[in-house]
This record gives sequence, C-alpha cells and structure tokens, in this order.
Amino acid sequence: MTGQDQQKRRVAEAAAALVESGMLLGLGSGSTAEMVVEMLAARQAAGLRIAGGVPTSERTAALARRLGLPLAELDERPLDLAIDGADEVEQGSFALLKGRGGALLREKVVATASRRLLIVVDEGKLVPCLGRGVLPVELVEFGRRATLARLAALGLTPTLRQGADGTPFRSDGGHLIADCATGPIADAMALDRALHAIPGVVETGLFLGLAPQVLVGTADGQVLTLDS
Ligand code: A5P
Repeated sequence: MTGQDQQKRRVAEAAAALVESGMLLGLGSGSTAEMVVEMLAARQAAGLRIAGGVPTSERTAALARRLGLPLAELDERPLDLAIDGADEVEQGSFALLKGRGGALLREKVVATASRRLLIVVDEGKLVPCLGRGVLPVELVEFGRRATLARLAALGLTPTLRQGADGTPFRSDGGHLIADCATGPIADAMALDRALHAIPGVVETGLFLGLAPQVLVGTADGQVLTLDS
C-alpha cells in the first residue's frame, strides 16, 4: 500500500467512525469513498445499523450491495451526512473541485441534499487555488462540438474524456465529460456561473458554498479536521 493509500485509509476510518445508527447517508465515489463504504460494512458487522446509503455512482452502489449495506433512494428527506472524496480542496475557502471519477452530477445532487457534508482526502488534495488539474464539465451529447467550442471561448482548454475502449466516456447519466484545463481559478463562482449559462452543460465539478468539514490524512499519520 502506498503512503497516499494509507492516508486515505486513515481518513476513511475516521469518517466511518462518525456515522451513527439510524443515519441516512450519502455514499461518495472514488477510492477514498469506497474505503469508507468498506469500513461502514465492517462497522455494520459489529452492530451499526444505518437507515440507508444513497450511492453517488453505480460503482459505489455495486460495492455497497456486495458488502450488504442497505441502499436508499434520494427522496424529499434530507440526508444526515454525505461522505465523499474530492480532487482538490482550496485551503481557506473550502471550495472543492470534483468529478475526475466521472460521478460529479450525482455527487452534487447528494452533497446538496445533505445536512452535513464530510470530505475525505489525503493531504495531496489541498491546494492554495483550484485549477491545479483539469476541471470536469458534464455535457449532453447533442451539439457537443458547439458546447466544446463555447468552453474554449471561455478560455478553457477542453478535452473530451475517453473510456478505456477509446470511445467517449459516459457518466452514469449517459452524458459526456469534458476535462478542462483552466489554470488557477481566481473566481470559481464566476466561472461556475459562466459554465452553467451554456445550455449543453449539465453540471460542473466546482462544488462551492457547501461548507464541508474536511478530514485530511497527512504523511506523518495524522488525520486533521478542517472546519469551514
Ligand atoms: C469522483 O467523481 C470524484 O469526485 C472523486 O470524489 C474524486 O476523484 C476523489 O477520488 P479518490 O478518493 O480516488 O482520490
């Protein structure tokens, strides 16, 4: 196991320890969120009884099913706690960049439906300014070239994500994803507004104003809790 995996495992363990019986949860996507699901299953074997987990991807749903965690559908009830990973966490503002795993749309629906959002990351995800890596933007297939041109007109450099078989990657919702090189994102709110103003854009990987609590695994074996 790499040092980064150990950091992820420690934060996943700390996150799973915060879950209480009776909670309705949001279950995130990505390797760290999957470790949380595994640890919740271990806690369930020791007596934890969650009300249910709303998965943010088909992959997380399959894992939870395999491990015997009860799944739930998102309805009008708010979730008690959503636990998810992130690709970048901006220090100070707690703005998040997500979606490199392709689950951004469901992740955002679940994050915004939860009373409390807990983000689990290794310390490599902390950045002074979002935009160190690409920003995923989910698009509808129809008019994709026009939409990509509009992303480029905003000053972004979009690349349509490819699947392992060389065909365009499809999200669980059947959409395409443009991975956009942005450079440092000075005004994430303005960029998010501009992206949402493009009709072919379904959702962006900018998760703003959600006031998450962030658990950070560090190289020296600690788990830091950052409160927004
Ligand atoms: C999934 O779409 C992403 O938002 C993930 O939360 C993100 O990629 C984090 O993944 P890891 O925990 O595997 O780093």
